[in-house]
Amino acid sequence: MTTTQPLDVQPTPLALLLLGRESDPRSERGVECPGDLPAPSDPDLVERARAAKARLGDRVFILGHHYQRDEVIEFADVTGDSFKLARDAAGRPEAEYIVFCGVHFMAESADILTSERQQVILPDLAAGCSMADMASAEQVAECWDVLAEAGVADVTVPVSYMNSSADIKSFTGRHGGTICTSSNARRALEWAFSRGEKVLFLPDQHLGRNTAVRDMGFSLDDCVVYNPHKPNGGLTVEQLRAAKMILWRGHCSVHGRFSLESVEDVRARIPGVNVLVHPECKHEVVAAADYVGSTEHIITMLDEAPAGSAWALGTELNLVRRLANAHPDKQIVFLDKTVCFCSTMNRIDLPHLVWTLESLADGKLVNRIQVDAETEHFAKLALEQMLALP
Ligand code: 13P
Ligand code: SF4
Repeated sequence: MTTTQPLDVQPTPLALLLLGRESDPRSERGVECPGDLPAPSDPDLVERARAAKARLGDRVFILGHHYQRDEVIEFADVTGDSFKLARDAAGRPEAEYIVFCGVHFMAESADILTSERQQVILPDLAAGCSMADMASAEQVAECWDVLAEAGVADVTVPVSYMNSSADIKSFTGRHGGTICTSSNARRALEWAFSRGEKVLFLPDQHLGRNTAVRDMGFSLDDCVVYNPHKPNGGLTVEQLRAAKMILWRGHCSVHGRFSLESVEDVRARIPGVNVLVHPECKHEVVAAADYVGSTEHIITMLDEAPAGSAWALGTELNLVRRLANAHPDKQIVFLDKTVCFCSTMNRIDLPHLVWTLESLADGKLVNRIQVDAETEHFAKLALEQMLALP
């Protein structure tokens, strides 16, 4: 009889955990809701949300990102892209509670931009962002050391996408850089190139590449990709010295689904269709599209489009569905054939919103997002630099 030795298999950092067993504290910030989370089937949820919001009155201000579910958007005092919501949060100093229906990095930014006496709340702490999680503070510090050893750190300006953790924003502020969003990435890069020779763009390689190449005339050869999982980012000193754009190897798992084939396929199916995509899509998708823009830009374009026009949208499905319902006079389709929700945005649902509002109305502070003072100081510099971009 042969016996087999138990294999000593160590989980890799990327190992998938079995659903419902164990947890990964590096990416999960908690899924527990102290108290009673209402059941999604509860027929009274809408009434309960209304009643709790009314009890809170002006003490609460609810922000809703465009990718949120309809049931949540219904209760948002304001909706927007990440840039608009950051400004809206800062412009509401009288609200004691800012309930952020979006993802973790957005709530962190709101906490940084609001006053000490305001408390920012994320209804489900598990609403993270896979792109933001692709750049950790340690990895980025190591990258900066690699740039310093190559003799290029002094001429490099970090530009970090809003979709990054407070730690990365803080790194950016500490090194004289700026934050950007998909609606001001070009202005941020122009500002950065007026101060340095190179940009380290974090963490979305696609937004960085698309803005530099499509909007600013850089070539693909001006861009290199820094892979945090390889020694020296997988780049030689010569490559780092020659590059204009050093792109972090991060991407959005939702927008990464769209492909050149999906563009070709929809053009074949709907003659004359306008293809409008988010700049987090891959470069070949953006290059093949007719229009590119942030969520706010996509909404404005659809509002202004003539009746009878046809549109294929390359962005998250909650927003595409809402736009299709809002414009029955236009043909609006989803660019990909498969369903493409952002799973973490979708974590915020009506039960979590009801639980949050009822807890606050009962005087129980839950799921507060609070950035520590030192991180906040430098992250705020980078965020304020963004708000001051020409
Ligand atoms: P914007 O709303 O800024 O376009 O960003 C899209 C997105 O992916 C947010 O997570
Ligand atoms: Fe992150 Fe992409 Fe979801 Fe936005 S859509 S929160 S970038 S995973």
